[in-house]
This record gives sequence, structure tokens and C-alpha cells, in this order.
Amino acid sequence: VSKITIISGSQRQNSQSLKVARFFQHSIETQIAGTAVHVIDLAANPLPLWDEDFWQSAERWQTAWGPVAAELQASDGFVIVAPEWHGMVPPALKNFFVLASSRELGHKPGLLVAVSASRGGSYPIAELKLSSNKNNRLVYVPDHVIVRDVKNVLNDGAEPASEEDRLIRERIAYSVKLLGAYASALIAVRESGLIDYKTYPFGM
Ligand SMILES: Cc1cc2nc3c(=O)[nH]c(=O)nc-3n(C[C@H](O)[C@H](O)[C@H](O)COP(=O)(O)O)c2cc1C
Repeated sequence: VSKITIISGSQRQNSQSLKVARFFQHSIETQIAGTAVHVIDLAANPLPLWDEDFWQSAERWQTAWGPVAAELQASDGFVIVAPEWHGMVPPALKNFFVLASSRELGHKPGLLVAVSASRGGSYPIAELKLSSNKNNRLVYVPDHVIVRDVKNVLNDGAEPASEEDRLIRERIAYSVKLLGAYASALIAVRESGLIDYKTYPFGM
């Protein structure tokens, strides 16, 4: 597995999602040997809202999306960090999924991570598992993570601050290891010669 890209899906500056993304970065770097990690923060580097020019490959889209697409194409797997905003995924992350296609994400594993300030977090998982990958063919792995009470967990310092913090750290370590296994296994699927985007550019 050469590269995993993490998308921090909050459009808020200095978001808790970015904190969680950085925690996953460290976890991947220490647990999946030889894997580079790239973090895309949708707050620091906002992508323009999709418009018709995107499909004409207009120059301003080459500038805005081209470098991001190149990073995604070079990745073998993804972590999608999705904060719960009014029971939904934030618009910046939905926009990301309008822009990203099977060229970037197709038949690569995606680990979903929901983030909640309180006891929420199941809605972003349900929303993204239901409706974000029909055309881009991202393969969501079963063991998603929900980070609840986010301000009080995964903070700086080597030691967990509480039992909850210890449990979520263990869960993350487990899910990251599995993501690594899926990332190397799915390379064989992409190299199988079976994928036919020409006949089937869109999912049903
Ligand atoms: C517009 C908005 C709506 C929110 N709605 C919810 C919600 O429905 N459920 C929830 O658990 N937290 C909600 N939160 C709190 C976020 O979970 C909290 O900000 C947390 O830090 C994750 O978001 P962040 O990555 O943007 O920091 C909301 C936050 C914002 C800014």
C-alpha cells in the first residue's frame, strides 16, 4: 500500500474533524508499514462548488481540482472524516463527492469516520453508506468508526484521558489495520481486467 489519503470533511477552520484526521494519520503511519499519508482539509483548501464547466475541463477547474485528483488517483485507500452537522454531512464534503469520480476513487477501500460533539454520529455514516458511492465506486469497509464527545478524546498526549478515550483509540487501531488489509487486497480487483467503465460509467 503506497498511499492513503484522509479527507477531513468539515468546512470549519481548526475543526475537530481535522484533529481526528491527524490522529488517523499518525495511526496509519505507525501501523501500515511504508504507507505515505496525505491529508486533504476541506476547510484550509476549499474546493469550488461544482458547476457545468467542471465537465468541460475548464482551466480554472484544472487548477482547483487537478492537484487534488492526482493525489486521489495515487492513493490505494481513503479515510473519510465526516462531522455530524444537523444530522447531516457538511456541504463541503457532499461537494467533494460530486467532484470525485471512479477515476479517483473506483474500487478502492474507504473507511468512514463520523465525528460528533455529543452522542450523535450515526447519521453521517448512514448518509454516506447509502448515497455517496453509486458512480465513484468507492468501497466502504464494514468497520466504520464513530468518534463521540470528540472534544474530550484523541487529544495531544500519548496516554488516553479516560476509559472512553482508550476504547476509541483501540477501535481506531483495529479499523486502520483492516483498512490496510483491504487496501492491498483491492489492488488485485483493480488489476483484474474486469472493470468496464466504458460500458458501465454509472452505477445503477
Ligand atoms: C452547523 C452545525 C451543526 C451541528 N449539528 C450537530 C448534530 O446534529 N449532531 C452532533 O452530534 N453535533 C452537531 N454539531 C457539532 C459538531 O459535531 C461539532 O462541531 C464537532 O466538533 C464536529 O464538527 P467539526 O469537525 O466541524 O468541529 C454541529 C456543528 C455545526 C457547526
